[in-house]
Amino acid sequence: MNSVKSNAVLSDNDRLSPDISPSLTALHRRDVLKYGGLAALLCGLPSIAKAATVSPVETIAALPHDNQPFSAVINGYQEHVIIRWGDPLQPMQPFSLAEMTPERQLHCVGISCDYTAFFPLPKNSKNSQHGLLTINHEFPNPSLMHADATRPDAAHTRLEQAAVGVSIVEVRRQGQQWQVVTDSPYNRRLTALDTLYHIKGHAAGSKRLQTLQDPTGTRVMGMMGNCAGGVTPWGTLLTCEENISHFFAGHTDIEEQNYQRLGIGQQCKYPWWSAHDPRFDLQQTPNEANRYGWVVEIDPYNPKSTPVKRTSLGRFKHETATVVLSKNQHVVVYSGDDQQFEYLYKFISKDPYIPGRSTDHLLDTGTLYVAKFAENNTMTWLPLVFGNTPLTPDNAFHSQADVLIETRRAADLLRATTLDRPEGISIHPHTGDVYVSLTNNSLRTAAQVDDVNPKANNTTGQILRLQPGEDDHASLAGKWDLFLLGGRNHNEASGEWLACPDNLLFTEQGQLLIGTDGMGDVADINDGLYMADATGAVKQLYRCPLGAELTGMSQTPDQRTLFISVQHPGNGSTWGNPSTRWPDFKDGTPPRCSVVAITRTNGGRIGG
Ligand code: FEO
Ligand code: CA
Ligand code: CA
Repeated sequence: MNSVKSNAVLSDNDRLSPDISPSLTALHRRDVLKYGGLAALLCGLPSIAKAATVSPVETIAALPHDNQPFSAVINGYQEHVIIRWGDPLQPMQPFSLAEMTPERQLHCVGISCDYTAFFPLPKNSKNSQHGLLTINHEFPNPSLMHADATRPDAAHTRLEQAAVGVSIVEVRRQGQQWQVVTDSPYNRRLTALDTLYHIKGHAAGSKRLQTLQDPTGTRVMGMMGNCAGGVTPWGTLLTCEENISHFFAGHTDIEEQNYQRLGIGQQCKYPWWSAHDPRFDLQQTPNEANRYGWVVEIDPYNPKSTPVKRTSLGRFKHETATVVLSKNQHVVVYSGDDQQFEYLYKFISKDPYIPGRSTDHLLDTGTLYVAKFAENNTMTWLPLVFGNTPLTPDNAFHSQADVLIETRRAADLLRATTLDRPEGISIHPHTGDVYVSLTNNSLRTAAQVDDVNPKANNTTGQILRLQPGEDDHASLAGKWDLFLLGGRNHNEASGEWLACPDNLLFTEQGQLLIGTDGMGDVADINDGLYMADATGAVKQLYRCPLGAELTGMSQTPDQRTLFISVQHPGNGSTWGNPSTRWPDFKDGTPPRCSVVAITRTNGGRIGG
C-alpha cells in the first residue's frame, strides 16, 4: 500500500539498523551534516525517546509545490472557507471594504487569522458538530485593508486596533459545511481598542506596569500580536502576545535595557502612536509596553468574562502556550520566544489541577523555567526565580516581577541555549514527547552552530523532539534529538519536503501536522500544511494561496474536521494590485485572511 510512510525518502534500506545507530548518534551532528546525503538520515534517527506508534494512512496522491494564487487540497480531502476577515458576527450587511469602519470591525471577524481552537457545545461534551471556534488575529495589514492607505490617520488606527485580538464564533456543522451562527450570544471580539484585560500573577501590580490610566498595574485596555496559543484542561483559551515591538515607537530612558532587549522602540511597523494614541508612544506612556508580551487566558463559554494576562508565564514574544498535565496533575505550559537566538520555556504550576475546583490561581502560582541543551542529547530546565544567583539586585532584579518583565535578560544570565526561532510546540499523544519547531535563523554563523541548531545561515529550520525525564513533564531534566531538518535535503528524492516549520499539531493517531511559514523565501513556492510520520517523512495536504502562511491548526474531538488559518494571502502586494484575491476572487475585494475547514470526502478522520 502506498502511504505517507512508504513515500519517505528513507527507504527500508536507508533506515539505520540498530547496530550502526549508536555510532552515528555518537558522531557529532555537525560532522554528519558535512556528508550531504547523510543529512537526511538525521531525520530518521531512532528516537532516544520511546518509539512512536504510527497508524498507517490511506493512499493519497501527492500535492505538488507551486506558487499559484489559489489554494489546493490533496485528493480525498476538501476545503471549505468558514469565515473571512470582515465577515459579520452579528446580523448585518455582508463585508464591503468601503463600509469597513472601526465601529463595524468591532462586530466582525478580525484580520491576520492565526491560532484556532474548537470548544464543543455544550461545555465538557465531545460534540464535534457544534461549538465555539476561537481565532487569533495577529497584526493589521495596512496595505491590504485600507483602500486609501496613503497615511495613518485616527480612523485607520482605530480600524487596525479593532481588527487584531481574538474572535469567538459559534459554529455548527451542517452536512459537509460549517456555518457561522451570526446571532449567537457567544460571538465576541476582543481587541486592542476597547477590551479590558485584568493582569494577574507574580508581576501584577508592579510599579513597572503602572500608568496614569491604570495606577494599580492590574488592568490594561488592549491585547495584540496574538499569534498561537493553547487550550487548558478546564476549557479556557490561552492566546499569546508575540511581536509587541511592532506597535510601539519613541524613546524612554526609564526602561532602556528592558525595551532594547525586546526591540521596543526600534521595530515599530504600525504607527498607532502617530494617530494620537498615547498608549503606543513610549515618551508619553513609558510603562505601557510592559503591559504586553504576556499569555492571556480567555473563557470563551462566558461572553461576560474579563480575560486575564497571566504574568507568571513570563514576558517575551510568546509564540504558543501548549498545555499538558504532569504525572501529579500539575499544569505545564510550554512556550517559545519566536525570534532568532531566543529561548524555549515551560511553566509548572505549584498546585495540581483538580477537576471541579477553582482554577483561577493555577497559572499565577508556579515557576517558569528556561531550556538549556547539552551536546550529549540531554537537557535541563533552569528556574527563573528571583534571588537565585544571578537573578539578584546585583543584576538589577529586585523582585520576581522584575524577572518576569525581563524574562529574556534573566534567561541570558542563566546561559540558556539560544535557538533558531522556537515557534510551534505539540505533544505526541502516545509517547508524551514534546516536538518544537525552530523555524529558521539566517543570522546564525558557522561559528555559532551547535548540536541543537546544526545549520549555519539556517534558512529552512528544524524540528526538535524532547523526551521529559521519567516521562514526566514536571521533570527538570530530559533528552532531546532532531526529528526533522527542513529544506531540500529532506525527502528530495520524492520531491516532498518542507522548509520553515511553524505551527505543529499532533493527530490522535500520532501523525504530526506542520504548518510552514517562509517557503516562498526558500524556493519561491507557497507555504502549506504537511503531515509527517514517525520517520519525519512528509506529505503536503494543503497549499496556501500566494503570499499566505499556514497557521492555526485545530481539530474537532472526533478528528473529522481540521481547522486551519490562511494568514496574509497576497502579502507583499497592495489593495490596488493584489497578487491574489483569494478566497473571493471578486474585483474590488481584497484578499482576505480566512479560517478553512478541511474534511475528508469519505467522512473519515484526518490522516486516516
Ligand atoms: Fe506569529 Fe512567530 O509567528
Ligand atoms: Ca508562527
Ligand atoms: Ca509565522
